[in-house]
This record gives sequence, structure tokens and C-alpha cells, in this order.
Amino acid sequence: MSGSIINRAVPDFEQARTRRQMTRAAGLDPNHWYAVAHASRVRPGKVMETRFLDRSIAVFRGADGVLGAIENRCAHRHVKLSLGEVKGCNLVCAYHGWAYNTSGRLASVAHETFGKSIERIRVASFPVRERYGLIWLFPGDPTLADLVPMPEIPELEGPAPWASVAVDFVWAAHHSLIIENVSDFSHAHLHRKYRPFNDAKLTDLETSGTQVRLSYDVLVGDGRFSRHFVDRSRVKVDRMDLCFDYPYQWSDTGGRIKHWCFLLPLDVRTTHAFFLFYFDAVQVPLLRRPMPRGLQRQLMRAARRLLIRPLLAQDGRMVEAEQQAYERDPHVAGYELNPAVAEFQKLIVRQWRRHLAAPADAVREAV
Ligand code: FES
Ligand SMILES: [Fe+2]
Repeated sequence: MSGSIINRAVPDFEQARTRRQMTRAAGLDPNHWYAVAHASRVRPGKVMETRFLDRSIAVFRGADGVLGAIENRCAHRHVKLSLGEVKGCNLVCAYHGWAYNTSGRLASVAHETFGKSIERIRVASFPVRERYGLIWLFPGDPTLADLVPMPEIPELEGPAPWASVAVDFVWAAHHSLIIENVSDFSHAHLHRKYRPFNDAKLTDLETSGTQVRLSYDVLVGDGRFSRHFVDRSRVKVDRMDLCFDYPYQWSDTGGRIKHWCFLLPLDVRTTHAFFLFYFDAVQVPLLRRPMPRGLQRQLMRAARRLLIRPLLAQDGRMVEAEQQAYERDPHVAGYELNPAVAEFQKLIVRQWRRHLAAPADAVREAV
């Protein structure tokens, strides 16, 4: 081991001295809806574990198809409920068979109760919903859940939804590093094989409220693969609008190619990132005709495997490398050229401060 490696502890939010340190220590405000899994991962009778800032949550689906999200800690001896199984509409702990319903209430136990009532025994439950093929949960104050809007994606609803591709990754990186990656096109070099965005020039940058909006003049979808599938007569591919729409991120190219990125902070150095891409200008290559729906689905599957996953995996490797470098020495500042990055960081820090300072009542008034 080289003696020159400095390895001072990563500062937490209170100890942080610089904006970058504060950003890398910040959580995301729990009073929002967070994507936690693709709906197909939790079929009836299945349970999975997720986390929000280190708080473990068991997400399960009863035989009736109804989802539940409850504290992943049995009220008895604190074993993880996700180690258990779903029976009927309840989640049954693996150890002594205590069975919880979707509201977290103890419905039955698999042994004698020694004359005691189980009536009042419960674990916390979280509001949970299913939309756009994703399971969403609200880890914050449950009384705010109905007041806080979820992302709206009308293009994926109705009788003729756009062609879409969904991918997700768990990356060993703080969520801010992912925001700084997906909205900063100065990393075209990394993707030089796929060329998803070329010669980007930042033309607009504006922060208002909980949004940082930016636009690039850029050639979109000019890769060897993608250029054949985008109908250039219908979609303007030379400009992209992006937004860090706290705590989400989205982009829009000519109103025809769009994406959302939903970040779930598992802990302060691990993030589950969900990406949803959707397209309204997919054409049959060479024929230049709109593509029939069945064929679109096949194309989306191919694009997911051959282009979108490998491309985002490149980003994953970089944000993980950046996290490691930060942890190795959080006190060395880097040079940053893109002014958008500072805006993302300020918004993340501002919202986290606000969350730490705000009693629930103040939040309720603000939403
Ligand atoms: S620890 Fe869960 S039933 Fe005992
Ligand atoms: Fe990228």
C-alpha cells in the first residue's frame, strides 16, 4: 500500500464544508413518490426488499394482486419480513409465522398467544402505487402522499401509448453523481461508440423553484444503430431540453423522444436508478414508414439489449469510479466546467436542508 493515499472519513451533511461535500452527503426528500421496482418483479405471492436511505422496506403483492409496502422488520424479534413468504394477502414472517396485512397490521400468529391480545401490534406501512409498469412508494409522511403529485407521463397511457423501454441499475454511487451524469452532455467522449448525443452546446440554463432546466444544441440519436430508426422528417433532433425536476430527471427531444430517470437512494452511496425511454417517431429502417406496434415492441427489446443497457452501463462504471475517488479523498476539489453542475448541487443541498429543518406541518402547508 502506498503511504501517499489519503483516506480521511467522508464528511456527513453536518460536517461538510464545501457544496460538493454537502451534495454527496445529502439524501433525497422522502416526501415524494419513488420508483422502487418494475411491477413485473413483484407478481402475486411475491415479496422483495428495497431500501430508502437505509430504511429497509418489504414490498409484496397478495394473491388478490394488491400491493403492500411495510417496514421490513417483524414486530416480534425484528427479523426481516422479506425473508418470509406471502400467504393469501398477508406477508408471513419466516421465524414464528406472524402474518401482516398490507397496512402493516398483525393479522394472525402461527402459535398460541399466551392469552395476550395481538390487536394493537403493527409495523409501519407506506403508501404504494403501480403506474407506468413501476411500483412507487412514498417513504415520507403518509398523510402527504395524496397531496404530492407523481410524475405524469400521458404518452404512456391511453389506447395508443408510445413505444417504450425501461431499464434499471443499482450503482454504488451517490444519487447526485447520477444527476450530474445524465444531464451533463460533456461526457459524449465516454459514449463515442454509441454517439447518443454529439457536439452538445449548452444554450440555456435556468433554475426556478425545484427545477433546473437546461437545453443543448446537439445531434441526438446519430449512432450507427439509432439513426435508422428515428423518423427525421417528424422529429427535430438538433436540440434537447432537460430538467432536473427534483427528485426526478427528464429529457425531451422535439416532443418525440423523451425519457425519465427516477432515482431511489438506497443509502448515501448506493442508488437504484430507473430509466424510462419512450419514442413517438420510430420508423421502419430503409422503408421510412412508421413501424407497426408488434414490430416496435421487438425493436424496443433489441434496443434495450444492444444499445440502451450497454450505453448506461458505461455511465454506471464512471459514477461508481467517481464515488470511489470521492471516498478515497473527499477533501480534494475537482475542476468543473459545466455551470449546470453547480445548479444541480445547489438544488440537492437546498432541498435536503429544507427537509431536515421542516416539521411535518410546514411541509403539509407547502405542498
Ligand atoms: S421474528 Fe417474526 S414472527 Fe418472530
Ligand atoms: Fe451517459
